Amino acid sequence: MKKIRVPDIIKMKSEKVKIPVLTAYSRAMARILDSSGIPVILVGDSAGMVEAGYPTTLPVTVEEMIYHTAAVTRACVSALVISDMPFMSYQVSVEEAVRNAGRLVKEGGAEAVKVEGGVKRAQVIKAVCNAEIPVMGHIGLTPQSVNRLGGYRVQGKDKLEAERLICDARAVEEAGAFSIVLEGIPAELAGSITSLLSIPTIGIGAGPHCDGQVLVLNDMLGLGGITPRFVKRYANLDEAIRSAVLEYKKDVEQGKFPSREHCY
Ligand code: KIV
Repeated sequence: MKKIRVPDIIKMKSEKVKIPVLTAYSRAMARILDSSGIPVILVGDSAGMVEAGYPTTLPVTVEEMIYHTAAVTRACVSALVISDMPFMSYQVSVEEAVRNAGRLVKEGGAEAVKVEGGVKRAQVIKAVCNAEIPVMGHIGLTPQSVNRLGGYRVQGKDKLEAERLICDARAVEEAGAFSIVLEGIPAELAGSITSLLSIPTIGIGAGPHCDGQVLVLNDMLGLGGITPRFVKRYANLDEAIRSAVLEYKKDVEQGKFPSREHCY
């Protein structure tokens, strides 16, 4: 399978080829996504919520992101692997941001990093790009801003907010990002931003007009938790795993496992 690189993703927009993106946090899942032809795998800081059980993404550390990113990159042959920069790894100073982005590349094997924020993050995006690390932007409902936003609410619903998001999107592109996540914004606004930018937009809860879509893997596989409206469930792994576990439990309790074929 051909190795996917940043220029291939940029080209997909000009060729009007939609970009399917999924998150992954482990070798087991990344191996399946990669061999299924998913071109971009995002090691999201959503790992903190869906894998570690934190109530928000805020506690996630650079070390935790390196651990998950390394597990994913070791499994991937083809997919481009992007690692999320966790909260407070890029907000303190531009120097710290570059150093932490570098750790995700050197220690985690990431091929790009993702940074939340628009105009406010332009300097960071520029500096990380100048260090030869490709950056994916992320605007709209940015989960690391949950305390300022007052919850996980759709953004850009009124004219002023919509204009602010357009400025943010432009700032991210001008700073040198190669793509941008649009999260939790009205479909029409996402469509306008998509046509204004030359870099691909990847939507989550942002309607069908984006150049690509991303979902948290655990959500689309039905692996625990509540399913937000923008998620389509493609499997019910919670059920499938539960029934396998119950069958195993019964077998052990009834002395049916291990049977002769499982013995040396
Ligand atoms: O952390 C994450 O998984 C994300 C995506 C949902 C875009 O940022």
